[in-house]
Amino acid sequence: MIITGKYPNLRLRRNRKSDWIRRLVQENTLSCNDLILPLFLIDGKNKKESIKSMAGVYRYTVDKLPLILDKAVKHKIPMIALFPYTNKKFKNSLGSEALNENNLVCRSIRLIKKKYKDKIGIMCDVALDPYTDHGHDGLLQNKEILNDESIEILAKQALLQAEMGCDVIAPSDMMDGRILKIRKTLDKNNFKKVQILSYAAKYASSFYGPFRDAVGSKKALKGDKKTYQMDYSNNEEALREVALDIKEGADMVMVKPGMPYLDVIRIVKNNFKIPVIAYQVSGEYSLIMNGINKGLINKEAIYETLISFKRAGANAIVTYFADKVAEKLSSN
Ligand code: PBG
Repeated sequence: MIITGKYPNLRLRRNRKSDWIRRLVQENTLSCNDLILPLFLIDGKNKKESIKSMAGVYRYTVDKLPLILDKAVKHKIPMIALFPYTNKKFKNSLGSEALNENNLVCRSIRLIKKKYKDKIGIMCDVALDPYTDHGHDGLLQNKEILNDESIEILAKQALLQAEMGCDVIAPSDMMDGRILKIRKTLDKNNFKKVQILSYAAKYASSFYGPFRDAVGSKKALKGDKKTYQMDYSNNEEALREVALDIKEGADMVMVKPGMPYLDVIRIVKNNFKIPVIAYQVSGEYSLIMNGINKGLINKEAIYETLISFKRAGANAIVTYFADKVAEKLSSN
């Protein structure tokens, strides 16, 4: 039994009576080591461009990345995640810009590795949606997203990222078999140390709206992603996805979105002894930010949400709050 006494001998409020005791009995904490910072990239020079649907988040040109990376490194954020806003003229039905070694992501990896070496990890999304004119993560044929043909290209995209110096390959496409295909391709090319963080339980969610705006795939997207991303009614299926990806070679797994899926984080953590990463996605970020900016909730709500991921069992959180929170945490 969890309760080992009763009122009036037992008064749980005693352990809440002041700040020092609350700190002493605190069960979960948040540190800079828990944070992964997503960054949006844009072509051009000398630009830091605001994103309408994501107050306080920016797109950076490659030369301006040090603006934010200096801070991330200073505050010991362990890893960043790169997402490109691809100019329409580079998009086509095959997403071939994904395989261009001078695309935004590749140029950014080279700059970051040159300037920061191993001071910060780089994680890259593997999916075609920033590069396809139809906005899907894989190849589209007769209204269908092809699986086996898509993973051929995704493996090439992953290999290119590894060649550029990416540390952690993060397939977010939800095609079947892509982790095995990517692991084999990496190993064959002697990238045995490059990790795979699989977006294993990724749901077809309405909370990705602002992200699609940030990478410019919103208007492009034809239809929805329900034939490859998961149905949000399911959690047993999440366990099957995770089990499969671990067998195929994933080093870490992601649950995404975050807050509406804390139960999924918990069951994955209980069932598999593997690092679990939560993604507090763009829609969650923007709702919270709007609430704060409108005075509906206060800023501490940010910590409340981030700690909820730790409570649920996540090892780390991808969050657009990472830079702001890390700055605050290191000044405490
Ligand atoms: C692309 C991808 C998406 C996100 C991360 N990688 C969008 C999508 O699947 O449509 C969403 C991130 C966010 O909303 O913050 N495969």
